[in-house]
Amino acid sequence: MRPWTVAIDGPAGAGKSTVARLLARRMGYLYIDSGAMYRAVALKAIQSGIDPAEADAVAALARGARIAFRPDPDSEDDEAPQCVLLDGEDVSAEVRRPEVAQLASVVSAIPGVRSALVAQQQAMGAQGGVVMEGRDIGTVVFPNAELKVYLTASPEERAVRRLKELEARGIVGDASLEQVRAEQDERDARDATRPVSPLVAASDAVQLESDGLTPAEVVDDILALVDARRREA
Ligand code: C5P
Repeated sequence: MRPWTVAIDGPAGAGKSTVARLLARRMGYLYIDSGAMYRAVALKAIQSGIDPAEADAVAALARGARIAFRPDPDSEDDEAPQCVLLDGEDVSAEVRRPEVAQLASVVSAIPGVRSALVAQQQAMGAQGGVVMEGRDIGTVVFPNAELKVYLTASPEERAVRRLKELEARGIVGDASLEQVRAEQDERDARDATRPVSPLVAASDAVQLESDGLTPAEVVDDILALVDARRREA
C-alpha cells in the first residue's frame, strides 16, 4: 500500500507541531513543518533588509531560498529534533523568534511566496509517507491527502501553551500572557482573512479540539482514525 500523506492544519498554538512530530514518529513517516519555511523566508527578508511590503522582492527571495530540514543528532530536546536550514545555515533558533512569526504571517499572504513554497512542499511530499503541518496543507498543498486533521484549541489554552513554549526555549523571558494572546489574535486574524489560501478547515478534514488533552492523547485519537480508515479501505 502506498504510504499515506497526512495533513494537519489549524491556528497558531493548537499543538500541531508536537502532535505532527509524534504522529510521524509513530507512523514511521517524515515530519515537515511548513510554517518553518514561511518563517525562513521572513528571516531572509529581515537579513536582506527587504521591506515586507515589497511583494515582488519578497517573492523573488522565496524562489531563491534554499530551505531544508535535517535531523538534529545532538538534540536532547524532544520538541526540536530537526534543524531548519536556510541557504545551508542552521536557523532553527532564529525562526522561532516572535518577531519572525509575525513577519512570517505577513509574507505568507504574498501569492508569489506561497506558490514558491507550496511547490517545494509538494515536491517534499511527492512520495507520500509524510505528516505535514501548516495552514493550507489539506486545502491547497495536498488536497488529496488520505487523512486531514484540523486541530484547534481555545484561544486561552493556545496562548498559555505558546507562552510556556517560549519560556522553555528561553526565547522571551519576560513576555506576558496578554502580549502572547494579542500577538496570537493578530496572527490568527491575518491568516484567516488573507485572500490567498486563508486558514480554513478542508471540508473533508476531521476536526479535533485539543483542550485538556495531552499531545500523546491527540496522537492516539488520530492513530485510531488511521486504523479505522485503513480497515474501511
Ligand atoms: O506554523 P507557524 O506558526 O510556524 O507558522 C508561521 C506563519 O506561517 C503562520 O502564522 C502563517 O501565516 C504562515 N503559514 C502559512 N501556511 C502554512 C504554514 C504557515 O501561511 N502552511
